[in-house]
Amino acid sequence: MGQSRVLAFCGKGGVGKTSLSALTVRLYLEARVKVLAVDADPSMGLSLALGLRPRKTLDHLRREMVDLLRNRPQDRVDLAASLDYKLLELLEERGDLAFLAVGRPEEEGCYCRLNTFLREAIEALSIRFPVTVIDAEAGLEQVNRRVMRSVTHLVLVSDGSAKGLRVAEGLANLARQAVSPERLGIIFNRLRDSQEFETLSSRTHLPVLGWIPEEKEITRYDMEAMSLLSLPPSPALTALSNCLQRLGSGLVFC
Ligand SMILES: Nc1ncnc2c1ncn2[C@@H]1O[C@H](COP(=O)(O)OP(=O)(O)OP(=O)(O)O)[C@@H](O)[C@H]1O
Ligand SMILES: [Mg+2]
Repeated sequence: MGQSRVLAFCGKGGVGKTSLSALTVRLYLEARVKVLAVDADPSMGLSLALGLRPRKTLDHLRREMVDLLRNRPQDRVDLAASLDYKLLELLEERGDLAFLAVGRPEEEGCYCRLNTFLREAIEALSIRFPVTVIDAEAGLEQVNRRVMRSVTHLVLVSDGSAKGLRVAEGLANLARQAVSPERLGIIFNRLRDSQEFETLSSRTHLPVLGWIPEEKEITRYDMEAMSLLSLPPSPALTALSNCLQRLGSGLVFC
């Protein structure tokens, strides 16, 4: 597939970032591509959507390193040298899938440091995989803080609401200044029909990748905490693969 791709799904809360991230992971796995999936949202939705439970999160590692440095500041150089190895140890692996979760800082005020660590972890790990898929936290913070600096393909997700589209457009503007991805586009999720899609498309100047229909099975899988990796083939999945091809995801389907 050539050079590494780093895809991130960003947008307003509740628009479908996690569902589309998980289904994207699934499409790459079906195409026999090794994927690093990163749950960058402290609420850890992607972990559920992929049916994985990480033993240790990036926040656990950060705390461990802070404690080590507090007790033995002279070990700073050794610790830095072993960071790559420690990050690899965090990965939960299932066949071609490797998974990393950022976790949730216990103390308030640590989000900022954790986001910096996350940025470094994504940079260090993504070069080892042909594809990285990141499920971002809702809103602007992680793009603003340049956590998404190494993202090559930015997917903005919106539902049919004016607010969803406004947040996506805000994110696109910010991303063009702060992270400059190679490719960027919007997916409209949970739409009723193509007419709704035409109306929404005419309201934005963002590159439009396509739309995903509302599909009851996706909601049911979420309600029953089932892995989207085992969702049967469906119109939503086909629609997503078309959107990803338009983005230049490197996916080719038979
Ligand atoms: N195409 C779809 N059809 C039906 N239900 C969907 C679809 N996409 C997402 N959903 C449902 O919408 C809800 C929100 O989706 P999801 O959790 O993926 O959004 P999110 O953007 O990750 O939310 P958050 O900002 O809280 O992390 C979930 O119940 C999910 O199952
Ligand atoms: Mg989510």
